[in-house]
Amino acid sequence: MNYRDQIQSKLNIGQELLYLSMQDVIDTGISVKEVLELTEQAMVAYSTKKAEMPAKIGLHPQPDSLMHAMPAYLPDQMACGIKWGSNFPTNRERFPDLTPTNCQIIYNDYESGLPLAFLDATWITEVRTPAVSLVAAKYLANPDATTFGMYGCGIQGKAHVKMIEHVLTKLEKIYVFDVFEKAMDDLIERCQPHVKAQIIKASSYEEVAKSCEVIASAIPIHHHPNPMVKSEWISNGQTLIACDCHSVYEDEVYKRAEVYTVDSEEQHRLLETYGYYPWGLPLIHAETGAVAAGLHPGRTSKDQLIVSNNVGMAVEDMIVARKVFDKALELEIGLKLPLWNRTN
Ligand SMILES: NC(=O)c1ccc[n+]([C@@H]2O[C@H](COP(=O)([O-])OP(=O)(O)OC[C@H]3O[C@@H](n4cnc5c(N)ncnc54)[C@H](O)[C@@H]3O)[C@@H](O)[C@H]2O)c1
Repeated sequence: MNYRDQIQSKLNIGQELLYLSMQDVIDTGISVKEVLELTEQAMVAYSTKKAEMPAKIGLHPQPDSLMHAMPAYLPDQMACGIKWGSNFPTNRERFPDLTPTNCQIIYNDYESGLPLAFLDATWITEVRTPAVSLVAAKYLANPDATTFGMYGCGIQGKAHVKMIEHVLTKLEKIYVFDVFEKAMDDLIERCQPHVKAQIIKASSYEEVAKSCEVIASAIPIHHHPNPMVKSEWISNGQTLIACDCHSVYEDEVYKRAEVYTVDSEEQHRLLETYGYYPWGLPLIHAETGAVAAGLHPGRTSKDQLIVSNNVGMAVEDMIVARKVFDKALELEIGLKLPLWNRTN
């Protein structure tokens, strides 16, 4: 039976769609390891032109908020759809009970265009984003690194810390820093049981910068960044991985990098026109997926300063969405909702 017939045998395409809540997505049992593998596949597919994915466009209803429309089609996976994802950092103060980040996916039948599923993608985003950072770490960091740093201890900070040992297996110390003390305490309480390395609450940006071989960052993206980490604190040999654009480091750090990668050059060029990089993008050596595909060397010496800036791509969401959808159909998870009864 071909893939579409398999779907049709469980879901009446065009007449109904599968609704999956965040708990449903988690209940499919998709593992972090699966998300890691799928994310790398998606990054490679994008950078080897085996995917259709226009740069995301967005709305900004509140200062420093974003809502992104993210479509993608992966022919080899027969997966297509669109994610609608938002980050409203001010929710923390204004609506403390609401998450700052929330995302949904409409997952479509690539043959007829009809919707197959509407799924919560908040968990998918939470896990696939560090998965991208881990792909960057796999190819660009010194594999024997014993120290890792995390700027930002929110949803992404926690997810990065929980997952990083999948790739950096020799970590002994993880330094974390956040402007909110409680966020650091919360990260340590939630993540320490899941990681072997000792998690240390850093006292400053400088302490993390000077103590860690590999550093990831996930703080709010400001339209006009106000970087806190000075170039003089950053040394050759370090690997800096950002999912928050150029929010953290002085511009000179990016310009100094011997290797600077991004997930999608088209996306970052578009962001530049929106004003996200007021000092300009540095020379882009390669897309991170091109490094994973072997089209561009990764780290070639221990002394290179390497920066990888990955803003997130819909191909990553769609490849994971297909796996979640397949598992949900197989396990009969989720709620089938009627679409319409029109036949013409
Ligand atoms: N690249 C991607 O694919 C992707 C995906 C999801 C989120 N993100 C980005 O990651 C960032 C974090 O998202 P999140 O969901 O973890 O948000 P969050 O609100 O849960 O966490 C952000 C944390 O940063 C801390 N913070 C704020 N200002 C800081 C500063 N100046 N220095 C240090 N810490 C600071 C906050 O206290 C908070 O703990 C956002 O910029 C978001 O847009 C990127």
